[in-house]
Amino acid sequence: MVDHRRLGFAAGAALALMIAAPHAFADGQARISSADILDGKETFQICAVCHRLDKSGASTTGPNLYGVVGRKVGKLPGFRYSRQLAKSQAVWTVKLLDAWLRDPQKVFPGNRMPFTGLKSAADRRDVIAYIEDVSNGGHTSGTGAH
Ligand code: HEC
Repeated sequence: MVDHRRLGFAAGAALALMIAAPHAFADGQARISSADILDGKETFQICAVCHRLDKSGASTTGPNLYGVVGRKVGKLPGFRYSRQLAKSQAVWTVKLLDAWLRDPQKVFPGNRMPFTGLKSAADRRDVIAYIEDVSNGGHTSGTGAH
């Protein structure tokens, strides 16, 4: 016989855990919802002071971030990077972006991005998801670049 009381308790406990920690799996592998992407859009307002996110390829204070996931670090044509980024051989993965946005000076010491970082793992995950979504045409959230 199945003990329904115990099953019910286990399901309830799992649900409570999910409610208590909605971002418990914030490792880039978690499923991203359109609500997360919309949160990311809000967070991106901070980045937008210095970064464009559109197909133009045009850069402002910082390099254009359209398609940055999978792009080589410090190589967007037309932008004058610091030596630290320009000489890097790395590629921007979700994981590297997460580390960069957490503490830019720790990842590439001496770089010129005047930004101290996003403390919240959820904010970092969401803003990266937003950048990816816009770069892919905004299909998930309807937030595509114009
Ligand atoms: C006050 C201006 C400023 C803000 C705010 C800012 N950045 Fe930057 N960012 C820069 C500059 C300048 C660089 C180039 C740094 C260098 O060459 O060392 C840069 C570089 C980058 C790069 C490297 C891109 C490449 O082509 O290699 C990424 C990714 C990035 N920023 C993401 C972000 C995100 C996401 C945010 C918001 C959470 C943000 N930045 C906020 C100015 C800014």
